[in-house]
Amino acid sequence: MTKVLVLNGPNLGRLGKRQPEIYGHTTHAELAELCTGWGADLGLEVEVRQTNHEGQMLDWLNAAADDGLPVVLNAAAWTHYSYAIFDACAQLTAPLVEVHISDPHQRPEEFRHTSVVTPYAVEVIAGHGIDGYRMALEVLARA
Ligand code: DQA
Repeated sequence: MTKVLVLNGPNLGRLGKRQPEIYGHTTHAELAELCTGWGADLGLEVEVRQTNHEGQMLDWLNAAADDGLPVVLNAAAWTHYSYAIFDACAQLTAPLVEVHISDPHQRPEEFRHTSVVTPYAVEVIAGHGIDGYRMALEVLARA
């Protein structure tokens, strides 16, 4: 079974409580369970992680690069300004899919309209809610 990492950045641990009108009612624990199930259906072994600490995310991305693991990345706010995340994505050796629950390009804050992840992503999936993670896993299953 191909192993895939689903890596979620800051504030995504608060899914379900955080601005549900934007991010929905599914909790991060429920998201993790859904991703594992969707992955199993696609023949993927999925591991879902979330961190509020940028150094932790960098360590996970560096290890994914060394291990040749495909990644689904929702870098959350780091997406918009972290050149450290940009540099870590540049080193990945297997396909990377960028996911956002909302569609940052449709949101009013100008800062959300830039992504440091997009240059290294085989696909960007945004604005499909939690289902976007299923779509991202489908992309990786085909890759
Ligand atoms: C997000 C969009 C980002 O702009 C925001 O900072 C997040 C979540 C999303 O999934 O829609 O934290 O990545």
